[in-house]
Amino acid sequence: MSSYPAARSRRLRRTPALRRQVTETRLDASMFVLPVFVVPGNGIRKEISSMPGNYQLSVDELIPLAQEAEALGVGGMLFFGIPETKDEEGTPAWDPEGPVPQGIAAIKEHAPDLVTWADVCLCEYTSHGHCGIVKGGVVDNDATLPLLARAALAYAAAGADVIAPSDMMDGRVGVIRSVLDAAGFTDRAICSYSVKYASAFYGPFRDAADSAPAFGDRRTHQMDPPNVREARREVELDILEGADMVMVKPAGPYLDVIREVRGMVDLPVVAYQVSGEFSMVKAAAERGWIDGERVMMESLTGIVRAGADIVLTYFAIDAARVLKENR
Ligand code: PBG
Repeated sequence: MSSYPAARSRRLRRTPALRRQVTETRLDASMFVLPVFVVPGNGIRKEISSMPGNYQLSVDELIPLAQEAEALGVGGMLFFGIPETKDEEGTPAWDPEGPVPQGIAAIKEHAPDLVTWADVCLCEYTSHGHCGIVKGGVVDNDATLPLLARAALAYAAAGADVIAPSDMMDGRVGVIRSVLDAAGFTDRAICSYSVKYASAFYGPFRDAADSAPAFGDRRTHQMDPPNVREARREVELDILEGADMVMVKPAGPYLDVIREVRGMVDLPVVAYQVSGEFSMVKAAAERGWIDGERVMMESLTGIVRAGADIVLTYFAIDAARVLKENR
């Protein structure tokens, strides 16, 4: 093996064309999934102040956004709903007329090339903001499972391609799989939020979805940030229950976890670049402290380099546009 001066690493970095040829990580818009917040009503387009460029949208306003995403080759859309009313059990989560089923059906019709992903969790639908039924001050795992399954079923019936439970209850993947299968939806995929940390990076989302817990926090069901062996166990259990894809969330601060999961499974690995990751880039760029576009692309490259096949990101449209311009 030769070394300097015969060996010179800079030779392959000399021109943009050379650098393009030796690129080890390529992004494609089809890897991106755009999360959206759907509200009841018509003509509603309300910007989320902590997530510039993201809106709570009624279904009619969602359609042009979906068509823009589709035209740019974005892979899919992940649906969150903000219901008119909330209650103790999160009943509006499985209302077939709710914003999520209506949004999914509209996108299936008007932007059919997008893969429709339905987030399944009760926190947007419960009056207390917890991810399940609360009994004696704690989230009751087993009582919550049938409710999650009902929500999953409503989204599948509306046309969801991927059911994505994000609540972190034990056993939910298996229960959702069996309820979907019994109803004839054997062809719908489950992407489990297998490795979801109790993260402060979800802050802006809880504004967007109006889902901050009224008391306590989510540490009894979401994972503790220091743990990675536990992530392996979560992934194993979800695969045994029938998950088709597994997710790590957040993404940027957990690249080692993405790499760990990549190394242990052959299923697609999904990473969620969450609201706080997005908003930090936006805020620093607004102040002129960083080049927002370059940081956006670099952050996505890092997530894919770590081993993600699919990235859920609020940058989906902007990043797809950059990829298109640079082609
Ligand atoms: C739960 C859910 C959350 C996010 C996605 N699904 C919030 C939470 O667990 O508190 C966070 C997404 C983000 O921050 O972008 N329904």
